[in-house]
Amino acid sequence: MRIFSGIQPSGEIHLGNYLAVIKPWLDLQTKNDCIFCVVDWHAITVPYEPKNLQRKIKEVATIYLTAGINPEKSIVFTQSVVKEHTELAWLLNTITPIGDLQRMTQFKEKSAKQIKNVCAGLLNYPILMAADILLYQTEIVPVGQDQKQHVELAREIARRFNAKFGETFTLPQAQIIKIGAKIMSLTEPNKKMSKSDKPETRIGLFDTPEQIKKKIGSSTTDSGKEIKYNPAEKPGVSNLLTIYSLLSDKTIKDLENEFAGQNYQAFKQKLSELLIEKLTPFRDKKSELENNPAIIDKILAHGASQAEKIAQQTMKKVRVAMGLL
Ligand code: AMP
Ligand code: TRP
Repeated sequence: MRIFSGIQPSGEIHLGNYLAVIKPWLDLQTKNDCIFCVVDWHAITVPYEPKNLQRKIKEVATIYLTAGINPEKSIVFTQSVVKEHTELAWLLNTITPIGDLQRMTQFKEKSAKQIKNVCAGLLNYPILMAADILLYQTEIVPVGQDQKQHVELAREIARRFNAKFGETFTLPQAQIIKIGAKIMSLTEPNKKMSKSDKPETRIGLFDTPEQIKKKIGSSTTDSGKEIKYNPAEKPGVSNLLTIYSLLSDKTIKDLENEFAGQNYQAFKQKLSELLIEKLTPFRDKKSELENNPAIIDKILAHGASQAEKIAQQTMKKVRVAMGLL
């Protein structure tokens, strides 16, 4: 099956991105035809620093590779290098009602945060995302919970296009993990962990052991003493249990048994140790690749040329169907 997903090179890539999205990519990679993109055109719909963008793009690519994405098996590339994404996005603009875009939760949230700077790109963002997905005839789109609505819109756009211009696109479907699709903030466990909040709310994949210990140590727990999963009454502990379970591949039940009778402090200490063990390779790999930037450049260039071939085939079909060729 064809898989496509991407992460924006903005903010700090965190544990939520890794556990809910990148880690599930690894299972998919073994049996499918996967494309993993660094979606830089999406990242510029909010205020950003042009001089940092190239560094952020390479950082995201480094994270993909460190996590275990194999560039010999999967395609890894930067969105803005393959121009077909913008061509298809324009064409899909012409069949997408504005109302569909205005009701997107992410648009409402992001435009509320930057009232004075709501560019058309922020509204049209889901159309570019639909283009990313449809260009590669994608069947499965592994994402976190907050992107489900965008993938459903991409499916609706594909359905509408096929009905109007003839069968052209595969209808994509979101794939969301059952537990952990929304990793919560460490300090406010009723809000999702986010790239754009304060650093103490999240674990960054390049955090040092000291930062990890400090953040987990001061993360919000709940009243009571027990290490029990109950998101409604114990959102803090439940979030930490979810993180522990996904990192260790142990079930939440197993962890509840393992930590029965122990206090929050002991549990947090073990979780910190596990996080340090799992995240140290990210820091090591980052410095290794920073010392040899040509490695990432080569992988991204190779990925872009593979992606381009597929994108060009789809665009040929689209141009013919729409009477542009
Ligand atoms: P973003 O951080 O907005 O670039 O999102 C990249 C991917 O990570 C998307 O598929 C999101 O749904 C997912 N994601 C972002 N934050 C979280 C979170 N706190 N928990 C789970 N998934 C997340
Ligand atoms: N909008 C996604 C996010 O914020 C990123 C993204 C862009 C994406 N294009 C995509 C994800 C295509 C999956 C498939 O996380």
